[in-house]
Amino acid sequence: MKVGVIGAGTMGQGIAKAFAQVEGYTVALCDIKQEWAENGKAKIEKGYARLVSKGKLTQEKVDAILASIEPGLKENLCADCDLIVEAAFENMEVKQNTFRELDAICKEGCIFASNTSSLSITEIGKGVNRPVVGMHFFNPADRMKLIEVIAGVNTPAEVVERIKEISVEIGKSPVQVNEAAGFVVNRILIPMINEAAFIKMEGVSNIAGIDTAMKLGANHPMGPLELGDYIGLDICLAIMDVLYKETGDSKYRACPLIRKMVRGGNLGVKSGKGFYVYNADRTKTPV
Ligand code: 3HC
Repeated sequence: MKVGVIGAGTMGQGIAKAFAQVEGYTVALCDIKQEWAENGKAKIEKGYARLVSKGKLTQEKVDAILASIEPGLKENLCADCDLIVEAAFENMEVKQNTFRELDAICKEGCIFASNTSSLSITEIGKGVNRPVVGMHFFNPADRMKLIEVIAGVNTPAEVVERIKEISVEIGKSPVQVNEAAGFVVNRILIPMINEAAFIKMEGVSNIAGIDTAMKLGANHPMGPLELGDYIGLDICLAIMDVLYKETGDSKYRACPLIRKMVRGGNLGVKSGKGFYVYNADRTKTPV
């Protein structure tokens, strides 16, 4: 099966790995510039090189995975794809335009799925001549087991079922979710990160204290502030804003501290600074 992954950023790279690690799947890793797609593949290679050097994976296995990921433009690579997983910029217009363009490129029968983290699947599918379904991966997408499979208002049941089957084929556990802002995980997880930012802003505890408290007090693998940095504070903010806009409920108001940090370009791991500063030796220090 050939999968077109649209967007070679963090999520796109992880999704490409999730498919390419499974025999029988090849991936077209696409972005709007050839160079961006190639950069995405180079980052994937770098990650695997680290695992090989630690003895976690063999070079042979990594070579086989890398050989099944081709970077490039969707116009050149997606005509024969069986499945598209769109992981482009989290913006309705960008996603709608991407699928409209793909509609003209992809063969009949190719399934259109979006990895949107909170936008309406029904709205993303507007003006597209085939159904769109949600296939929501979690970062790091090659390791996290869950896939939220989201049925939009117009998504046929058989498309939802097929995505569930594919999820199982690639070793994931699907959970079907009806369309709603934030679906299940982000509706719970992102307000938690937002609340942690309020706690920091109010001076209830410091960054390390908040993260340690949740790691040791709730057995979370990462504290909420380091997780916010890891997801990207811009993504967290966008999700809070969607939750607020869709529900009108003030419990979803974004923390002003996160908004301020995003405005200042302090997005977390990807920008080198968020609640923590990320050092070249892969250590981090609370700001
Ligand atoms: N094959 C073999 N070994 C591998 C491997 C692979 N593909 N990948 C990593 N390993 C190895 C590592 O080298 C490491 O070995 P070491 O301990 O000897 O160094 C070991 O496996 C563990 O490595 P991890 O990188 O997995 O480290 P952790 O065990 O600390 O787990 C984590 C990292 C999975 C990120 C964990 O901290 C975690 O689960 N964090 C929470 C993540 C989370 O909540 N994600 C959801 C975000 S929300 C989202 O994405 C939705 C979106 O819409 C916003």
